[in-house]
Amino acid sequence: MTLGNWYNEHIVPRLIRCACSSPAIMQVRDKVVPLASGDVFEIGCGGGINQQFYDPARVKSYAGMDPSAKGLDFTRAAAAQQGRVADIREGMGEAIPFADASFDCVVCTFTLCSVDDAAQTLRELHRVLRPGGRLLYAEHGKAPDADVIKWQNRIEPVWKRLAGGCHLTRPVGTAISGAADFSLNQLGARYAPKTPRWAGWIEWGEAIKAA
Ligand SMILES: C[S@@+](CC[C@H](N)C(=O)[O-])C[C@H]1O[C@@H](n2cnc3c(N)ncnc32)[C@H](O)[C@@H]1O
Repeated sequence: MTLGNWYNEHIVPRLIRCACSSPAIMQVRDKVVPLASGDVFEIGCGGGINQQFYDPARVKSYAGMDPSAKGLDFTRAAAAQQGRVADIREGMGEAIPFADASFDCVVCTFTLCSVDDAAQTLRELHRVLRPGGRLLYAEHGKAPDADVIKWQNRIEPVWKRLAGGCHLTRPVGTAISGAADFSLNQLGARYAPKTPRWAGWIEWGEAIKAA
């Protein structure tokens, strides 16, 4: 195993768990994840941080997927801690191993920044949703201010290598509504407090698949 592979497999999942648990990020999770209901699929579920936010009274079944084996160890442990029966699989968002229209709800938090192909992943999320199903999202991405975007463009090449392929300049809402037939209901957007603005622009909401 090369040093780069070792870093990505063992250090990155721990760094991500730490960075993705800041109070500002946890506040946004708390606005979005408890809205999940019915048969739920979580893309990029590695780390398992969202497990504590699901409302057991609303979630009928839970499936999750992530390419990181180490990240999935954390997820399985967190699901077990909640007493949740979970179908957790290793896989990529660009080719989701579930049939069309399998889920009422997809949860996608802080993952579109890291997938290889965000548009293809969004088309896959649309495919696995039932008509009228909801994609609940909370993502960081391209800021609305030119001075911040300038820094995002400068930092992204190095950041991507250190942070498991995380992009800083991907748009959020427009990418979701542009990739598939979703109607977007943005619930919030802001710079996360106590976070550098180049890493801190967050948008959250729901995108509904036509019934
Ligand atoms: C910043 S972490 C966020 C983890 C989790 N979604 C959360 O909210 O804490 C990004 C996650 O995306 C996963 N990821 C990277 N590439 C992916 C892909 N092609 N498909 C699905 N997930 C991917 C990573 O393994 C990692 O778990």
